[in-house]
Amino acid sequence: MTSDREWFADRVAIVTGGGSGIGQAIVQGLAREGSAVVVADVVPASAAQTAADVARTGGRAVDVVVDVSKEDEVARMVKTAVDRFGRLDLLVNCAGNLPAGKPVVDLAEAEWRSLLDVHFTGTFLCCRASMERIAEAGGSIVNLSSSYAFKGRPNGADYSAAKAGIFGFTRIVASELAPQATANALAPGPIDTPRWRTGLDPEQLAAKRTKRVKDVPMRRLGRPEDIADAALFLLGPHARWITGQVLHVNGGEFYP
Ligand SMILES: NC(=O)c1ccc[n+]([C@@H]2O[C@H](COP(=O)([O-])OP(=O)(O)OC[C@H]3O[C@@H](n4cnc5c(N)ncnc54)[C@H](OP(=O)(O)O)[C@@H]3O)[C@@H](O)[C@H]2O)c1
Repeated sequence: MTSDREWFADRVAIVTGGGSGIGQAIVQGLAREGSAVVVADVVPASAAQTAADVARTGGRAVDVVVDVSKEDEVARMVKTAVDRFGRLDLLVNCAGNLPAGKPVVDLAEAEWRSLLDVHFTGTFLCCRASMERIAEAGGSIVNLSSSYAFKGRPNGADYSAAKAGIFGFTRIVASELAPQATANALAPGPIDTPRWRTGLDPEQLAAKRTKRVKDVPMRRLGRPEDIADAALFLLGPHARWITGQVLHVNGGEFYP
């Protein structure tokens, strides 16, 4: 049986949102297993820092500044992977902006479109630009959905809709990549990342952590590494007959 190390060693991956949180942990996991990684993020400093950290520990990474909702920038991202490393095997769609956090009646069309543009259209554009190469390489795609796609997020119609769309979209990508390559979605529960902590002072953050942990049978929030482990499983040698699925990684918080 192929080991993780043998499988990942010659692979080339793109991770969008790779400069922060879950994406950054996936970059680090892939690099540790020997893959070359394109760290793609809209924030130049965090993409550069993440790629530099990988290089410092002996891995291969290049940073690319990209807005995943822009077709030309996505094309440049894929070109960078191929020009720099010669191929493209793996894609993880992790980039995400923050929801407006409003009830539907208060949600402006621009806010709705902005969220859908990044999470949903961004996932579509990155898959479309990569699928032919990933099929040729016999690789894999992982798209980040969310438990909120299934249970709904209060004041989060934009986010729940985008993440539910990603699940349906991934099923079709999987069918179009088969039998050469796979595509799956991950649905994380609450993961303690910069995004999850956004806008909260220490007191508010402590209260949010306490409240959310109550709903989690495993009695802790998720860590970015929990999601990276699941992503590497789906991208790796032991998931070759798993495609078109959604894997829920949530400490038992939610049973679909
Ligand atoms: N954390 C959770 O509890 C959780 C749970 C379920 C699903 N998820 C999903 O997992 C993914 C990663 O979340 P995270 O918590 O790790 O978030 P994060 O720490 O904010 O990382 C996401 C990264 O994507 C970047 N980004 C935003 N818009 C972009 C764009 N248009 N093009 C390229 N990059 C862009 C962000 O930049 P900025 O900082 O400028 O926005 C950030 O660097 C998201 O899709 C999120 O919806 C997270």
